[in-house]
Amino acid sequence: SEKGLKDYYADYFPIGVAVSPRSLEGESAELIRAEFNSLTAENVMKMGVIHPEMDRFNWGPADAIANFAKENNLKLRGHNLVWHQQAGPWIFTTEDGKTVGKEELYQRMKAHIDSVVGRYKGTIYAWDVVNEAISDKPDEFLRKSEWLDIAGEEFIMKAFEYAHEADPDAKLYYNDYNAIIPEKRDRIYKLLKMLIDNDVPIDGVGIQGHWSIFSPTETELREAMDLYASLGLDIQITELDVSLYQWEKERRELRQGESDEFTPELEARQKEKYDMFFRVFRDYKDQLTGVTFWNVSDRYSWLDHYPVEGRKNYPLLFDEDYKRKSAYDAVAHFE
Ligand code: XIL
Repeated sequence: SEKGLKDYYADYFPIGVAVSPRSLEGESAELIRAEFNSLTAENVMKMGVIHPEMDRFNWGPADAIANFAKENNLKLRGHNLVWHQQAGPWIFTTEDGKTVGKEELYQRMKAHIDSVVGRYKGTIYAWDVVNEAISDKPDEFLRKSEWLDIAGEEFIMKAFEYAHEADPDAKLYYNDYNAIIPEKRDRIYKLLKMLIDNDVPIDGVGIQGHWSIFSPTETELREAMDLYASLGLDIQITELDVSLYQWEKERRELRQGESDEFTPELEARQKEKYDMFFRVFRDYKDQLTGVTFWNVSDRYSWLDHYPVEGRKNYPLLFDEDYKRKSAYDAVAHFE
């Protein structure tokens, strides 16, 4: 049968994709089987979805993804255990509506990690243990969050320790975005170094890779890869997509009413960027243990809803009809 991305990259690293249970049917399932050899749950393993109340777990959707991975011989990444978003408000709240105390929050965190990591032991080979704990603000180290407020800085260490106890064989990752932008990169590096120096069981750093046709540059990407690699950690690109819009600009003005057409010019720029990213990835194959795309095809991407609701984006390698785009050829055909 025809070669897919996973075959072109067989000597480099697994090629993954973030999915919802719905995307494991029909044409989308066929595309996944043909092109990818690793899966991540886009949402259904997040605390708020998989553990919606203290005494209730919602295993069905997560199991569907785990079963598909097993049946089709795909690797499976776990995403994620501790995050300031999609956490499920119950974790921070007592029965009478007050904020939980520190000890209680650690007990709940441990119970959550034990249950979820324990259930997929032997199936999930790598977990994003802590997601996005570093601040985007230059003068702030850790992001303000309920985790930080209630549990203190050591919530990060504890999460890794609990995950390691629950599955000593799982590879444990710290995962974040804007991980290439020098300032934030240096704060992430500082956190990773602290964890390593304190013998925290961490195996790798996840660079989300929500990038765009504007950034990062090749130099920025290589500098960040070198810096993270110097820590001796594995590196994964965990959530790759290449937006047509400029992320930093989006935060200031939403460019409402602008055309969201995928013009040939934009397509060419996107292809060039993908080409460069994968050229760099191949150069780092000794450190890079996986590259995962955030969604399957341009038919649906989370960027159709974020940061501007309803503005179509075309950030992936397959078009709305699941056909390979020109960026696909750039990524697949190298030498
Ligand atoms: C996103 C999902 O794609 C959306 O469906 C959801 O509404 C919000 O979360 N960083 C992460 C991912 O680590 O979990 C996020 O996924 C995208 C940004």
